[in-house]
Amino acid sequence: MNQSIRFLMCAPDHYEVDYVINPWMEGNIHKSSRDNAVAQWQGLYYILKENAIVDLVPPQKGWPDMVFTANAGLVLEKNVVLSRFLHKERQGEEPYFKQWFEENGFTVYELPPDLPFEGAGDALLDREGRWLWAGYGFRTELDSHPLIAKWLDIEVLSLRLIDERFYHLDTCFCPLTGGYLLYYPAAFDAYSNRLIEMRIPPEKRIVVAEADAVNFACNAVNIGQTIVMNKISEGLKSAIKDAGFAVEETPLTEFLKAGGAAKCLTLRVNEPIIPDHHANVTIESKILQLEGHLLDAGIMNKALDIVIGSGGSFKVLNFNLGVERQSTSNAEVRVSAPSHEVMEEIMIQLIDLGAAARPTEVCDVNTNLVTQDGVAPDDFYASTIYPTEVRVNCEWVKVDNQRMDAAIVVKHSSEGITARCTLLRDLKVGDQVMVGVDGIRTVRQAESREQRNSSQEFSFMGAGVSSERRVELTVEQIAWELRQIRDQGGKVVVTAGPVVIHTGGAQHLSRLIREGYVHTLLGGNAIAVHDIEQAIMGTSLGVDMQKGIPVRGGHRHHLKIINLIRSCGSIANAVEKGVLTKGIMYECVKNNVPFSLAGSIRDDGPLPDTEMDLVKAQEDYARHIAGADMILMLSSMLHSIGVGNMTPAGVKMVCVDINPAVVTKLSDRGSVESVGVVTDVGLFLSLLVQQLDKLTRPLVHK
Ligand code: ARG
Repeated sequence: MNQSIRFLMCAPDHYEVDYVINPWMEGNIHKSSRDNAVAQWQGLYYILKENAIVDLVPPQKGWPDMVFTANAGLVLEKNVVLSRFLHKERQGEEPYFKQWFEENGFTVYELPPDLPFEGAGDALLDREGRWLWAGYGFRTELDSHPLIAKWLDIEVLSLRLIDERFYHLDTCFCPLTGGYLLYYPAAFDAYSNRLIEMRIPPEKRIVVAEADAVNFACNAVNIGQTIVMNKISEGLKSAIKDAGFAVEETPLTEFLKAGGAAKCLTLRVNEPIIPDHHANVTIESKILQLEGHLLDAGIMNKALDIVIGSGGSFKVLNFNLGVERQSTSNAEVRVSAPSHEVMEEIMIQLIDLGAAARPTEVCDVNTNLVTQDGVAPDDFYASTIYPTEVRVNCEWVKVDNQRMDAAIVVKHSSEGITARCTLLRDLKVGDQVMVGVDGIRTVRQAESREQRNSSQEFSFMGAGVSSERRVELTVEQIAWELRQIRDQGGKVVVTAGPVVIHTGGAQHLSRLIREGYVHTLLGGNAIAVHDIEQAIMGTSLGVDMQKGIPVRGGHRHHLKIINLIRSCGSIANAVEKGVLTKGIMYECVKNNVPFSLAGSIRDDGPLPDTEMDLVKAQEDYARHIAGADMILMLSSMLHSIGVGNMTPAGVKMVCVDINPAVVTKLSDRGSVESVGVVTDVGLFLSLLVQQLDKLTRPLVHK
């Protein structure tokens, strides 16, 4: 007998499946046999007695799960962190276990009453004593881990459980002598698996397949080179033997019915301390505030889903529900994450939802200096399309030039403090760039139910993709909106691809320009080339636009057109010389509608107007977009995505494409003011012009 090892067990006198608090208990109520349970428990007891001392805690009537002493608490040397059971069905065990620990000379640490932790069921020491693996996700709350680390002065590595069958860490994870690990990887999220792989070298990981995992193969008791467990497969047995361990199988099927096996039935009560390893907790937590139509608009759900889905956990500290339909709610939520990395991932998503740290907690955003032109410091905050504010000198400062995928430069000058979205390439040595996620918030418009559903507002089509049957309704709405913007002196930007010409949309777009509905045109070389080809030769890429058939030698038309415009020096010159007399580009020139053509690798020519320096082209686009009220994206994925990146939330966007994937990609900006229309762009433009005619008819007397 190895006198240095000591376990605590509890005889199954009152063992029973009496209730359901894990999936294994389902369908097993009163299905276990007491006689079998006693025999199986004794089987395990005698095996352990050969190798260790076994202490017994008296069983208590009415607490059938007390046999699972692993859940009594977590012991390290003479300290124990007592369990706080999640379910009331087991909470009554706490005082009995507490009494046993006190009578046996342990210092007992107790967690706050509402912070669940289920002892050694969810906390397993590395067998070399280097650190503590702690589980969370079902029974134990992540926020208990830092307290455990502090009290026991040990490094805690938090692992998130994601499969409810493996609700306790010891059901799927078993550290072994010599730094080996027996475990079922699918029970953990990706981040936890990475953590495990970082700590345990591949040759020491014994991976258990699902078939063995559901037989509680990982719920094993390891004493030196021996592993005691329920029945397992031959394959796993030989893998374990190859790692130098002897397997002792003992049937525990009666206890499987309650969701436990060998390890659950025992608690190691003399875990030695390894002196050199001390507390090192990576868990972070923050208190966040959320405001808006939290329930109505589903923000609360989304926020909590983000936290859990990304591997964190939360506690809602308070929630003030807006009473009136129009009033907003606010909430404070404490978010915890197993590491800084995970916390940032969670925060970035929550910031987009409008969450912010309590203003009292952060007075200044963190910034780092740019040390190389055009390169941001590591960990810089990447901006989004949403209006953003940052904390400087304990005040919120609005960020200028809002756009996505930029860094935020904070400047203190005699005129005051400014913050500005700045492209990476425009960063200069010495710029202060915001890093991390503290002290930033996005200001999301609080949309009420009415606003979101109103048929009077553009937003009624919001954040959706129209299918055929909705196209007409949508077009009607867009026409109304265009008319409104024109009459109020607003600005409409159109980005258009060559498909506009191929689908017969040129005449309609030309008309929109002529009638003052378009204030800027953005596109590539191709839209201009094909438009001019059609205007001058009647073909688009060599296809006769009237007859719809290719013209002999037509494939050279576009080159001739390019050559012709090049000979004129520019599109405007071609108009002036009377070479170009109709079409989209002609109307732009005639009506002083500025256009910008951005080049690409596949361009023929290019036209003299096409900007082949892409940095300049992007800058030019950005200048043109500034101040836009609406952007119509007509079948050009490339130029539309470029435009989308530069455009802040709040600008209405209409994306038309025959390919639903493109429409979804472009209109999914998480804000209600973008709408997608899946249809042929020529047809769309024709419908739009008809609708505008309808709106105009009573007003115009010709
Ligand atoms: N029925 C018990 C429960 O659900 C089983 C506990 C098993 N213990 C363990 N350490 N996994 O709490």
